[in-house]
Amino acid sequence: MSSAATAVASPSSVETGFFDSAIGKKVVMAITGCFLFVFVIGHMIGNLQIYQGAEKINAYAHMLKSIPALLWGMRIALLVSVILHLTMAIQLTLLKRKARPVAYVKKQSIASSYASRTMIWSGPILGAFIVYHLLHFTTGQAHPEFSETDVYRNVIVGFRNVPAAGFYIVAMLMLGMHLFHGVWSMFQSLGINHPRYTPWFKLFAAVASYGLMAGNISIPVSVMLGILN
Ligand code: HEM
Repeated sequence: MSSAATAVASPSSVETGFFDSAIGKKVVMAITGCFLFVFVIGHMIGNLQIYQGAEKINAYAHMLKSIPALLWGMRIALLVSVILHLTMAIQLTLLKRKARPVAYVKKQSIASSYASRTMIWSGPILGAFIVYHLLHFTTGQAHPEFSETDVYRNVIVGFRNVPAAGFYIVAMLMLGMHLFHGVWSMFQSLGINHPRYTPWFKLFAAVASYGLMAGNISIPVSVMLGILN
């Protein structure tokens, strides 16, 4: 039997399913990442209503909570996506390490951007941010004057605390970088790649990620400057 035929028929390759392969894991990361990306864009558009006043954003928050099936459906989908995204990230890191147990003597970082090299720690910082954010604005344990109904006041009082506002700003800088690399990788993993359109995909990833970062950062900054009060 030729070596090629042996490789095709070897038990390990027959047993290895799509989701055990690096590409399968990357596709799961791309799909869950895409969903999380759509959520953060929608969430930012909702948050920017704060510039239209308390009534507007409080009515919007009330509307979201008034449809429990939608709220809980969304929460479950977000939780499942975050768990899958994280699990795939850990498994891919371990696979990469197994493939190259001895690190490069000299790390070649020419082709990788700053954003891609920081995925490994922008991910965990974002994880910590999400936990804090939920305790701050959703359940209220990390908020000094939490109100169930007045989302506007929660945001204003929350961001008057400079360390809290600072942490949001740092987390949003991380999110911008994480998304820029993530959106770009998503196109690669899903095979959406064409020499003519690639620069446009990159431009889309940059505008969406850094636009989201700027929109979100504007809120704590506006509170600290007294523009929102
Ligand atoms: C400066 C930026 C942000 C602001 C001002 C903000 C504001 C808020 C507020 C006020 C709530 C509570 C809404 C309500 O109770 O009706 C909330 C919930 C939430 N936010 Fe944010 N958010 C920001 C960024 C983010 C980011 C970047 C993420 C994800 C990475 C995120 C994920 C969530 C989640 C998952 C919820 C809970 C939704 C739920 O199940 O009730 N937020 N946010």
